[in-house]
Amino acid sequence: MSQEVQRLNASEIRRRKGAEPIVALTSYHAHTARLLDRHCDVILVGDSLGMVMHGFESTVPVTLEMMILQGRAVMRGSRRALVVIDLPFGSYEASKEQAFMAAAQVMKETGCGAVKLEGGRRMADTVRFLVERGVPVMGHIGLTPQAVNVLGGFRAQGRDEAEWQAIEADAAAIDAAGAFAIVLEALAEPLARRITGLVAAPTIGIGASPACDGQILVLEDMLGLSPRVPKFVKRYAELGGAIEEAVAAYAAEVRQRSFPAAGHVYPMRRQNR
Ligand code: KIV
Repeated sequence: MSQEVQRLNASEIRRRKGAEPIVALTSYHAHTARLLDRHCDVILVGDSLGMVMHGFESTVPVTLEMMILQGRAVMRGSRRALVVIDLPFGSYEASKEQAFMAAAQVMKETGCGAVKLEGGRRMADTVRFLVERGVPVMGHIGLTPQAVNVLGGFRAQGRDEAEWQAIEADAAAIDAAGAFAIVLEALAEPLARRITGLVAAPTIGIGASPACDGQILVLEDMLGLSPRVPKFVKRYAELGGAIEEAVAAYAAEVRQRSFPAAGHVYPMRRQNR
């Protein structure tokens, strides 16, 4: 009989602040979600899938349909982790109502437990509107990849103290609006540490600080599958090289006709006479 497993929810993740570190990774597929589920508290179906799965230069072209399709796969592959799905660029910024419609569609069609959206003070009213209507929201400040075209590239934020006040105000606004957690991406380490001490919501760092309440990485980056990775990524495996070696061995064996061997084909059944 299959054992019923209780999924973590956004309130439980919020209560981890100052207690146990929150472990998060991205996943876009059922298979990887299954592998992550035993080890991660949060699985993020990030819009980084635009670059990782589709080869786009940024997350800007990602659509709500892409997020829902991969979100459903991750929900099927996981049982325990809280699954959070990114609202993609263009699906939530125009109005609070647009954001609610997008978030409701994502939650209804995938069964996920929360959504994530990017932006600080400018998105605070939207975060409040969603939370008041039953949508748990994870915030995302610092380097916000959907804004790459106005940020002028993927560059770390807050490395000059003159930038701190604005970034702290972003964190405080999203926190006060009721975000259950806040991703801090590519922030100067002392600023990420300081924000973690200032806000009530747990902070999830990516290129931020070991003082954050949790950490997240893009799975393919930490597995060594992504050709280019930011400085903040630690590669825990080199699967790119391992896959290429396996493919080269397969190609050689097919060309030599040594694969498939006797053990990989179906012989005829023995006839009883
Ligand atoms: O899309 C994504 O993968 C993300 C993480 C980098 C936090 O937003």
